[in-house]
Amino acid sequence: MFMRASFIIKGDICYSENLENLTTRENSYLVCVEGYSCGVFDKIPDEYKDLEVCDYSDKLIIPGLIDLHVHAPQYHFRGLGMDLELLDWLNTYTFPHEAKYIDTEYAKKTYEKFVGDLVSSATTRAVVFATLHVPSTIILMDMLENSGLVSYVGKVNMDRNSIPELQEVCARESIENTIKWLDETKVKYKNTYPIITPRFTPSCTDELMESLGKITKEEKLPVQSHLSENQSEIEWVKELCPGTKCYGESYDRFRLFGEYSKTIMAHCVWSDEYERKLLKDRGVYIAHCPDSNMNLSSGIAPIRKYLEEGQRVGLGSDVAGGAYLSIFRQMTDAIQVSKLFWRLIDGNSSPLKVEEVFYLGTLGGGEFFGKVGSFERGYELDVVVIDDSEYRTEDLNLRQRLERTIYLSQHKDIKHKFVRGNKIF
Ligand code: GUN
Ligand code: FE
Repeated sequence: MFMRASFIIKGDICYSENLENLTTRENSYLVCVEGYSCGVFDKIPDEYKDLEVCDYSDKLIIPGLIDLHVHAPQYHFRGLGMDLELLDWLNTYTFPHEAKYIDTEYAKKTYEKFVGDLVSSATTRAVVFATLHVPSTIILMDMLENSGLVSYVGKVNMDRNSIPELQEVCARESIENTIKWLDETKVKYKNTYPIITPRFTPSCTDELMESLGKITKEEKLPVQSHLSENQSEIEWVKELCPGTKCYGESYDRFRLFGEYSKTIMAHCVWSDEYERKLLKDRGVYIAHCPDSNMNLSSGIAPIRKYLEEGQRVGLGSDVAGGAYLSIFRQMTDAIQVSKLFWRLIDGNSSPLKVEEVFYLGTLGGGEFFGKVGSFERGYELDVVVIDDSEYRTEDLNLRQRLERTIYLSQHKDIKHKFVRGNKIF
């Protein structure tokens, strides 16, 4: 049987206990037994004294970051069309580009770059959109599995309102493709899991949504999609789905909104009170993607309000709506847009703090994967080891070093990465 590793990491350790509380432990020992954390100690406890010690003294030790929403095929054209809003950007850049993934050679080349860059980033787990193409999606899943990262990957469903080169001809064809893909991938991997992925309501007929809802229920599969990102999109959904009280209902009426399985909805920039209650009641995870929301002029999601309401929130890069894979970057963007929200939109709100965005990018998103995103005892152990010497000045405490790392670190500063206790590099 496959055995997960046991070892100890020595260094300057930071992790979230919860939204408010960040634990910082200088020169301490993080104990990993068979891939799980046994906690952080000042001295190595006797019972663990025979374990190997990885000495990363003076380095920053943090949980792996979690990307709750990223489009792998879009990595290749990020930074283009950023003068457009969502629907024009989809039609002009995104759909024609995703259509290229009918070519598996193209998929191999571009997915290799995406996975390589994700591995060298601070992200250890991601929830990923592929394209509607089954062979290319399986190529991506094979590569992610080989990388050692943990991921959910969705073959995208879309049977209306796209360009002819990127559309399944009918709901039946889309479902047949989905079943074929699930048959091949459901039990193939250790760290890579399929997730049901209706692109967004404008891309999916009612017939397709209904069948996806049935598959989700029968197979107990998780779901991801987009919700209330852009005002023109929301108006369009109202026209497409008469009688629904909010955009979220266009998923919920087909049981694709957290009723049977865990669900991520990206954005939720414009969710009204009714939709927010539905999100809360169903325990849906909100993927906050501030880089994307700025680039596509979508707006500012009211994350402070969501946190006060007790919503489940994590961060997403939303490449290529977002131009950067870095979840550190999403943390700083989340702080910045929350300041603009407070200054320009709602003076009763308050900006997000470093502790809070660090929580969102680790524990907040990590919960989708189980006990993930912290070093508290019992959590699965994903670790990133960072050399912050380039921007570390003598007078900084550990919390300040973490803050500077969030703002200033680069891929080259990430020295080692462990996922589920396995050393990736
Ligand atoms: N809504 C539907 N498809 C997409 C996409 O690819 N990116 C973003 N940001 N929103 C979407
Ligand atoms: Fe997206």
